[in-house]
Formats: sequence, structure tokens, C-alpha cells
Amino acid sequence: MLKRTHNCGALRSEHVGKTVSLAGWVNSYRDHGGVIFIDLRDREGVTQIVFHPENKEAHGLADKLRNEDVIAIEGNCVAREGGMANPRLATGQIEVQAHKLEILNKAVTPPFTPDEAEKVGEDTRLTYRYIDLRRPRMQQILRTRHRVTKIMRDYFDQQGFLEIETPFLCKSTPEGARDFLVPSRLQPGCFYALPQSPQLFKQILMVAGYEKYLQIVRCFRDEDPRADRQAEFTQIDLEMSFIDQDEIMTVVEGCIRRVWKEVLNIDVPPIRRMTYAEAVDRYGSDRPDLRFGMELVNIGDLAGKTDFGVFKSVLAAPGGMVKAITVPGGGAMTRKETDALAEWAKTFGAKGMAVTKVGAGGALDTGVAKFLTAIAGDLIARMNAKEGDLICFAADNHKVVHRVLGELRVKLAKERGMLKEGDWQWLWVVDFPALEWNTDEKRWDSLHHPFTAPNDEDLHKLSSGDQAAISSVRSKAYDIVCNGSELGGGSVRIHRPDTQQLIFKLLGIDEESQKKKFGFLLDALKFGAPPHGGLALGLDRIIMHLVGTTNIRDVIAFPKTQNGADLMLDAPSEVDEKQLRDLHIRLQLPQKDKPAPGTPATV
Ligand code: AMO
Ligand code: AMP
Repeated sequence: MLKRTHNCGALRSEHVGKTVSLAGWVNSYRDHGGVIFIDLRDREGVTQIVFHPENKEAHGLADKLRNEDVIAIEGNCVAREGGMANPRLATGQIEVQAHKLEILNKAVTPPFTPDEAEKVGEDTRLTYRYIDLRRPRMQQILRTRHRVTKIMRDYFDQQGFLEIETPFLCKSTPEGARDFLVPSRLQPGCFYALPQSPQLFKQILMVAGYEKYLQIVRCFRDEDPRADRQAEFTQIDLEMSFIDQDEIMTVVEGCIRRVWKEVLNIDVPPIRRMTYAEAVDRYGSDRPDLRFGMELVNIGDLAGKTDFGVFKSVLAAPGGMVKAITVPGGGAMTRKETDALAEWAKTFGAKGMAVTKVGAGGALDTGVAKFLTAIAGDLIARMNAKEGDLICFAADNHKVVHRVLGELRVKLAKERGMLKEGDWQWLWVVDFPALEWNTDEKRWDSLHHPFTAPNDEDLHKLSSGDQAAISSVRSKAYDIVCNGSELGGGSVRIHRPDTQQLIFKLLGIDEESQKKKFGFLLDALKFGAPPHGGLALGLDRIIMHLVGTTNIRDVIAFPKTQNGADLMLDAPSEVDEKQLRDLHIRLQLPQKDKPAPGTPATV
């Protein structure tokens, strides 16, 4: 093979006159009256190669070149003459007049070329991911990902963190999702769980005296993928000893600040804090997007003065509330559009979505206006509404009201172009409740995870046996939020076995199960556990923000589809009987999925 002297992004005017050799993929080819032009591409860029008929042998070969053939060439670097320079290309001042061509590998006609990738369906792109990944955009994203992990690793190294690997074949760690299980061959009937996070290992490392731990680590959660969620994703996971909440937040903020500065040249200001209670009250969400207003306003007192049946019945029920948001300019929405909001609201458990508009002269009209005459003036003032605005109401219990209005403000902000490019709104959400009552299963659930320390002043309430008191217990948990997306979450941990056992008990884990599932942790806490805490950042989500995509699959080289498939590998896939036998597994599939006799079984 010709020895490569330069990459396809390297050549400039100063190289004119040199003999050079390049290698790469044929990005495009054109025949202009016998002169053949090739755009040659590698990961660094594109260079124009010209084959003149005088160079018979090379020209003869070039004539047969097609997209995505892999070639090497040798030629003279010459200046592009007579206004032929291409200012959009880094190498646009020059071209290479080739006198030698080696075809390293012919390509059959690809299902799409990198240039066409934007036009084909995502499934096709994922099936032929190696072609998709040839796109400059994908290469830029994966380079950014590489850079960000390097910046973070260097940052934490400078802060004295040690990177320590923890096992993938382990035992269930409760982060709230389902586990991926791996059957053990050596211990029939037993299963490993892939880690939902290295949570317990990092705490054990603190007990072991490592003080500052870091790991850039894959986590596995068997949950349905979403736009910002994959079953397999990467955390920047850290833990520290002898620290408090503020110290952890400062270290993490420093990391975010450095990444945003180095990658986007953006200065992240000191990040403000908001309690969970305030975030939910004003924005209906524990990860509020602060790039726009449309705050939730409690109008329960005004609603109580109306004769609107919906409001009255909700307010009469225990825990019922009425809140509203003002949509600036929303008065222009059609009846069809506002009716659609009611249907949409039902998907979040609401019973409907009452609306009204502020019409000419500041009077309420349309929608439920007729029920609101008695309170119109007060309502408009409370809602800070102007002529041409829309007011949307939700009446239900706290959970439904906050959920539906919280989702509504985000939906409307997106649809109505209220999100400004280049606006970054950062926030720490603090003082999360420690526990949440699970009405279906009639027990407490941890809001973060069961190892999170309750606030010292609330600790006594945990053993009160009183539901209201227990649900008001705050914890030392904190989330970092950027533009409405949760980039990371962490907490100060429980470092005393008695508190840990109390929390387990409230979560309905009896002593026997505690021993079986978490005996090692309870033991470790007895043998000298320092106060400790940490946080995990979601690397994939951070990259999404930095490169400006809303699809998590864009920032992962080999992602999974909505139903958890790797389309290139065709995974998950069936395995043969022998493998199952070795694992002592017999399949009992739902009727419709049963394979025909003799076909391999699915795990
Ligand atoms: P948590 O469960 O909040 O905390 O996860 C931390 C961060 O990881 C990211 N993340 C995800 N990213 C993509 N796909 C997913 N399915 C996914 N799930 C989570 C989010 C999230 O903020 N052990 C604790 C951390 C700690 O307490 O130190 C934990 O895992 O950005
Ligand atoms: P109804 O009296 O059920 O016809 O509802 C009148 C209007 O109130 C409709 O626009 C419904 O979408 C809306 N609505 C019904 N229930 C609720 C609710 N719980 N919260 C807010 N609006 C509601």
C-alpha cells in the first residue's frame, strides 16, 4: 500500500508543489469531459483528487471508482486555478493531481452514503451503523465525547480522585429500575445482576479508606428507552469521604464549569439552588426548565368562589387543588388546538384541561369564561395575564396537577418557539423528600435511593409512625439540572448502621431480607465507615447538551432502539439449546412467542 503522507484534512496552500499520498473513502466522483474528480474522505476531512487522462493507468482505474470504495493515491498538490477554490472546505485552496491509484477495497453499492444519512430512516442508519458513523457530524459528536471524558478525568485527577473499577457481574443495587440478570453456570439457579450503578461499591470504597473515588462507568437499567434514556448508559460516578453536601456540589460544579468552558467557551455562572418543594410548586417538576416562565399559580381560593362544578368537586375532596398557567399569546390558539390540550392532559392522568382567553379590553372569553365572571378581575391580576393570553387550569390532587401543568409548560414552550438558542439555565434542586408513599403497594419508596441520609433535624420523624411526619422528612439529596434535564444526582449517605436499618424497615425490607441483600453493607458500616457522599453525572445527557441533540442515540456509537435492540448485531437473539442446558435454563415463553419445534430458543 502507498505510504500515507497526509490525512484528507491536512493540505493547504503551503503544500503546493509537494508530492503527497492520501488514503480514504470515495465520498463522491464526477467526470468532467474525461477529467475525473474524486472527493476523498477520511476522519479528518475531504480533499479533491483529480485524475487526468494523461496518467493513463491511474485514470483507467479511477474511471471505475464508486462511492465508499477505499483507495490510496499519490499525486502532486497543486493550487486550484481560476476561482475554483472552495471556501467551505478546509482543503479548498488545493487539489491533488493523482498519478498513482491503489484500490484497497471495492465497496458494493451502499444502502445510503454518509451524505444521504439524514434522509434515511434511523433504523437503516442503525443497521448499517458503520456507514452512519462515517458522517462528519457523528465523528464530531464522538470526538466531543472523547474530549469531555478526558477533560473530566483530568479534572478529577487534579482534585485527587482515584479511578477504580468495580464489577459488572454483581448483585442487584436498588436504583428504582429493573435489573438485567446474568445466569451463573457454576452456581445453577443463581444469577448475577448487572449494576444499575456502582452505588454500593463506591460506598464500600469509602469504608475502605479511598476518600475520593471516580469511575467513568457503564450502568444497566432494564427500563423502556426514551429520548434521553438508554438501557445501557454511562455515568461519571464519584464519591468522597469527610465532606458535606456543599463540598460535593462545589466539586461537581467545577467539573461542569470546566467542560462548558473548554468545549463551548461558555462561562457557567455560580449555579443557583432551589428546594424540591419550590420547584414542584412553581414549575410542577423536580427538574424545572428555567428558560421560560409560565409558572404554576395556585388559584384554589379564587376557584372556590366560582360555581364551576369541576373546581368545586375537586376542592371538596381531600388534597384537591386548582392551579393555572398563563400562556403568553396563547389566545391565538384555535378551538381545535385547545380541545386537543384536554385530550393530551388525560394521558397524564388529568380529567381534562379547562382553558379561557383574555379577550379585548381584558375580559375573559371562550372556554370556561362563563363560570369565572365573579373572579375574572382577580384571576387576570393573579395570573399576570394580558389581552391575547390563554389561561390553562388543572384541578385534581397535587400529584396530577403538578405533573400535567409541569409537562404542559414544557410542551407549549417547545411548540411556541419560546426556547432561545444558546440560553443555558442551570439549577441545583435540593432538599428532596427522603421517602414517598406508594399508594398502590402501601409502603414507602426512596425518592433517591435507600442509602441517602435524611436531614439531621428531620431524623426523629422517621420513627414517629406518623405518615404526614414521615413524608415531610427531607434528605441530603441533590440533582443538577440543565435546561429542564437532569444531568446528575447524588446524596450524602447514611454512614450509621442503625439509621440504615431504620430506612430499610420503612421500605418494607425485613431483617432477614436486609441480611440477605445488604448484609455486606450493614457489616461494613459497623467496621468504621466515614461520613461520605457523592453524585453521578449522566455522560450521555451531558454530550447531548454539548452537541445540541435531543436524541440520546446520536451520542452513543452503538445504541439500542426503542425496544432494546441492537439492529446491527441483531441482538438480543436466540441462543442454542446447549448454551441453555449449560446454564440449567428451560424456557417457558408466552404462547404467541413459542418457537416452532426444532428452532433455537430465545433468552
Ligand atoms: P441516578 O439514578 O440519579 O443516581 O443517576 C445519575 C444520572 O445518570 C443519568 N441516567 C441516565 N442516563 C441515560 N439513560 C438512563 N437510563 C439513565 N438513568 C440515569 C442521569 C442521572 O442524573 N447511584 C446514584 C448516584 C449517587 O447517588 O451518587 C445514581 O445512579 O443523568
Ligand atoms: P366538563 O364539565 O367535564 O364538560 O368540563 C368542562 C371543561 O373543564 C372542559 O374543558 C374539561 O376539559 C375541563 N376539565 C374537566 N375536568 C377538569 C379538571 N380536573 N381540571 C381542569 N379542567 C378540567
